[in-house]
Amino acid sequence: MKLGKRITALLLVAAVGLGAVGCSKVNGEETQVKVVRVAHGQNEEHPQHKAMLEFEKYVEEKTNGAVDVQIFPNELLGATAQAVELSQTGAVDLVIAGLGTLEAFNDCYTVLNLPYIMDSTEHYHEVMNDEEIIKPVYESTKDSGFVGLTWFDAGVRNIYTTKKVIMEPDDLKGLKIRVQTSPTNVKMLEALGASPTPMSFGEVYTGLQQNVIDGAENNELALINNKHGEVAKHYSYNMHAMLPDILIASTSLLEDKLTEEEAQIVREAANYANEYEMELWDEAAQEAKEKAEAMGVKFYYPDIKPFQEKMVSLHAEYTQEEDMKAVYDKIRKKGDEILAKNASIESKEE
Ligand code: GCU
Repeated sequence: MKLGKRITALLLVAAVGLGAVGCSKVNGEETQVKVVRVAHGQNEEHPQHKAMLEFEKYVEEKTNGAVDVQIFPNELLGATAQAVELSQTGAVDLVIAGLGTLEAFNDCYTVLNLPYIMDSTEHYHEVMNDEEIIKPVYESTKDSGFVGLTWFDAGVRNIYTTKKVIMEPDDLKGLKIRVQTSPTNVKMLEALGASPTPMSFGEVYTGLQQNVIDGAENNELALINNKHGEVAKHYSYNMHAMLPDILIASTSLLEDKLTEEEAQIVREAANYANEYEMELWDEAAQEAKEKAEAMGVKFYYPDIKPFQEKMVSLHAEYTQEEDMKAVYDKIRKKGDEILAKNASIESKEE
């Protein structure tokens, strides 16, 4: 990350501060424009960035330019954890954050972050679209100064390495694997016998290149958008996590800075951005895989059971608290319902 650029962006946020407004001509009249800042860690080619451009268009059009959305990609406003902290004070209004980051703010997010908690993409999408499960999770951070608005698909996370091919958990022994700054992710890699190394997303490429780490875990887009495939040539589909990213909004944005009507427009735009991103995701992941193959990355398909077995105890450990157990049970119930539904469809087809 270019430090100069990031510092300029941060200074801008600090200088303009809370409830930023600017002047502009709307419908020929001089008026105060409310600036809404969005921070995220992806580059401009990523489906989440493209979805936020649609968000921007929607909000600016529907508010007749009274709200000016400004998007800061590439961790320009700092690593995601810092951006979330800025949203707590209202210095940043919206942030796209991974579950690894959000679990520091509420345990409900930890549950979604558990390895292998989702049985399939169908299960994962249904959970995320189920208001009864997700709304309490989104609202769980209200007292901390932000709430979840919607989610973005972030595919399936798998382990990839620079030298050693990973076909079973034992292959990970002693390897330094980058994880997000998340206690669950640290435990997850420890359970597999690896040496987890938390660091921010923007530092991973250099970490791989300089052998500070031996590998990382992420979806296929990281190989291309973040160039990890230039240095890590072995990608193993152990499928440990199907994780969304969450678009969070500062409560001061929704409750103080915007009128009720504007806040409603922001919520609608978030839902629209979710649909838009979902349509782009599968193709983007497939395209990233093909590009990575062309640059020499090899894809492996290990038996996932041994990986699953090593991580099973984490589920019990992380669901001792009542609020976490409640979310966990709802997710698992839905998983079992989907399995039963699919089994009955299959038996009818036979
Ligand atoms: C993905 C994910 C991000 C996350 C990043 C990471 O890109 O979409 O939310 O921050 O991985 O590993 O840090």
